[in-house]
Amino acid sequence: MDTQVVIIGGGPSGLLLSQLLNRAGVATVILERGTRDHVLSRIRAGILEWGSVEMLREAGVGARMDAEGIPHDGTLITDADMVVHIDFKALTGRRVMVYGQTEVTRDLYAAQDAMGTTIVHGVGDVRILDLDGPQAAVEYTVDGKPHRLTCAYVAGCDGFHGVSRKTIPEARRQEFERVYPFGWLGILSRTPPVADELIYANSPHGFALASMRSESLVRYYVQVPLTDTVDDWPDDRFWAEFRRRIPSEAAARLVTGPSIEKSIAPLRSFVSEPLRWGRLFLVGDAAHIVPPTGAKGLNLAVSDVFYLHGALIDALRGNTAGIDAYSARALARIWKAMRFSWQMTTMLHRFEGEDSFAAQMRRATLAHLAASEAAQRDLAENYVGLPY
Ligand code: APR
Ligand code: PHB
Repeated sequence: MDTQVVIIGGGPSGLLLSQLLNRAGVATVILERGTRDHVLSRIRAGILEWGSVEMLREAGVGARMDAEGIPHDGTLITDADMVVHIDFKALTGRRVMVYGQTEVTRDLYAAQDAMGTTIVHGVGDVRILDLDGPQAAVEYTVDGKPHRLTCAYVAGCDGFHGVSRKTIPEARRQEFERVYPFGWLGILSRTPPVADELIYANSPHGFALASMRSESLVRYYVQVPLTDTVDDWPDDRFWAEFRRRIPSEAAARLVTGPSIEKSIAPLRSFVSEPLRWGRLFLVGDAAHIVPPTGAKGLNLAVSDVFYLHGALIDALRGNTAGIDAYSARALARIWKAMRFSWQMTTMLHRFEGEDSFAAQMRRATLAHLAASEAAQRDLAENYVGLPY
């Protein structure tokens, strides 16, 4: 065999899996379609569950996160001027870490380089073969030249648009999907955060989120129709819309400035079952997508990697119980995070063409949250991350 585990995709899932496997003495090769610069140019969510924080430390990539990340003990959920503080620490004893996914990915690349693992960039035409034989094979091209690797297992970490999921015959795959009729327009701006904690804001004008990357860099979002493009949203329009969706006392403190990045992401819930097909295992966005409202995307990728890395290490030593259980174990946690992300999305967004009842339900959900510690604890328990 050329290597023990071929990992398709060099995003956070593939890199973290490779990092943990190599630290346990398992040889991997990562095949990534894009350049490293391309992978590191993607701005994505910035909230780590504490389980993710601990996993990154265990993988030996926690140093910069611990130095530069900002632990948050709670968050604000608002509806117009109604503000509910969810105190994660008091309600669950746990907290989350503000640290951008782009930085996590950068740290993982640095650690992989230091370990000397093989990451092949610019691969094309990836084909995953022989999944039911004694060893698997992966064929691919680089600069038009064909290559082939044999291995014991293949990890499909190639995101929603990758080839791994599609390698499982369509008739043997079950897909579950909900597409939401809006997207999030996000900006990065070198301005101080409007609040010490994140603000998830429902409003008559739609949803807004005030997040941050540091004391001087913010990530703010507004819900927009799917038909909008970034050209429809010059900075002035963004700030005016953001300002009217957050509570007025926050709006009064808001510092605006030029955007340094602006993009629109559609919202989708998606799960493909099963996560295993012979010697192939799906991980992260290759198998599931959540809307960003619960900040679960990266955290679910980390919990998949948690289940899979131990299972693969055991399997390579002859104990296959873990890989046999992987799909069911990971899916059990994935579906709970799906539910939470869907619930947060439904609670906080205005749906085009909705009836007059819908906005009242959102307000009542928030009013209940404000009054009930049980409801707050339920939200907090899910937000800080369910146990592995
Ligand atoms: N061959 C090789 N690489 C591929 C292929 C392919 N056919 N298709 C996609 N890729 C690469 C992409 O270029 C990307 O770098 O796979 C990688 C997948 O990375 P992500 O999409 O970031 O997925 P994942 O690593 O599972 O990370 C999950 O990212 O999308 C967010 O919300 C999500 O935070 C979560 C996290
Ligand atoms: C972000 O910081 O980009 C972010 C934070 C929380 C979310 C989604 C995105 O729920």
